[in-house]
Amino acid sequence: MILALLLGGAHAVKEWKTLSEEENLEMEAQLKVINKPPIKSFQIEHGDILDCIDIYQQHAFDHPFLKDHKIQMRPKRIQNEMMGGKASLKTKPPRFLPKNIRCPPGSVLVKRTTKEDLIISKEKKALRLNHPTKSQLQRLVVPAANAEEKNSVNVVIEYPNQNFGAQATMNVWNPSVSNGQYSEASVWIENDSSPEKGEAITAGWMVDPNLFKSNKPRLFSYWDAIPNKGCANYDCPGFVQVSREISLGIVLQSSIYNGTQQEIKIGIFKDGEWWLKFYDKFIGYWPQKLFSSMKDASNLVFWGAQVHSPPNEPFPAMGSGHFPDDGVDGKSAYFKKMQIWDSVNLVYPEDKSLIMGTDKPECYHYLKLYEGVAPFPPLFFYGGPGQCKH
Ligand SMILES: *[C@@H]1O[C@H](CO)[C@@H](O)[C@H](O)[C@H]1NC(C)=O
Ligand SMILES: *[C@@H]1O[C@H](CO)[C@@H](O)[C@H](O)[C@H]1NC(C)=O
Repeated sequence: MILALLLGGAHAVKEWKTLSEEENLEMEAQLKVINKPPIKSFQIEHGDILDCIDIYQQHAFDHPFLKDHKIQMRPKRIQNEMMGGKASLKTKPPRFLPKNIRCPPGSVLVKRTTKEDLIISKEKKALRLNHPTKSQLQRLVVPAANAEEKNSVNVVIEYPNQNFGAQATMNVWNPSVSNGQYSEASVWIENDSSPEKGEAITAGWMVDPNLFKSNKPRLFSYWDAIPNKGCANYDCPGFVQVSREISLGIVLQSSIYNGTQQEIKIGIFKDGEWWLKFYDKFIGYWPQKLFSSMKDASNLVFWGAQVHSPPNEPFPAMGSGHFPDDGVDGKSAYFKKMQIWDSVNLVYPEDKSLIMGTDKPECYHYLKLYEGVAPFPPLFFYGGPGQCKH
């Protein structure tokens, strides 16, 4: 087990360069299992390699629960009309990868996993991503249960009711983050039960220089299930990739302060399996079989951000690195078009069913405004420069 890697400091992340020879060998062995032989590969910027892998050979199927899994290429019931109709098809996604990148039929596009990916995945696993396992309301009255929880801060708007998924459009930033820290923003779907039973799926963007050696935001997802704990992106078996043209882990464009805003539209929907949607494309899914408390539905959605830093370092910037109260237009990180999938339609949650909160109000702020057209859906702005103590 490579978990031993993390036993040193509570969850201090080791830089890959300082790994012992033994650790290195272990990781290489693990990478051999994760990275299946590619049919075709693309070397792209930022040193990334994208592989086309036979859809049936992908790492997902190394999961013991997925031995006889029958692959689905798209959700059974969800139709584009349910997802906002033709209008939504008109919003053409920005191009995140060079035009020629598309895998041949029968294969899927998967960013090749690296040692850095594994190190960070282990860190997240040790932290269990620290997603809020309780509704923010409860969190405010129940103090953090463990040291790890205190090493991350959340700013969220939440919908604590039954649902079958959610989506949002969010702008993407490259907040300043140093090694051992991260700053992310995502849509989180959970079943809010006891911490031992908490399960979650999240997807959004993340800046993690330890992982990426740059402050570039990346498309990221993480899942956590009991007892077959999950991981980030493709680092463990479970997530079934179906897309031939979008991979998790790719670099996203960042917004410019007081300038051009770069957005992503991302959703997680239950239709038998838990599907991950990026604009109008399904990237893949987490089979229902991986989950217990989340096998049927979710009862808690968060749209929000999380920063993490080791105990002796101040917290990093969140979102644009600016407070929303200092200006929103082109200046603050946001979520908009926050919608709930009720298993038939995408709906705007009733305003009164949304709760906002943070566990460090002196450090990060949030603000709710409304779009100017009926049904006046809420806009959630969040962020701050960080630099405050634990
Ligand atoms: C933001 O951009 C506007 C228009 O370009 C400019 O007038 C303004 O001074 C800028 N504000 C800041 C804080 O940079
Ligand atoms: C989801 O969480 C609720 C509230 O804690 C719990 O009552 C329910 O049993 C959970 N669902 C499953 C399938 O475990």
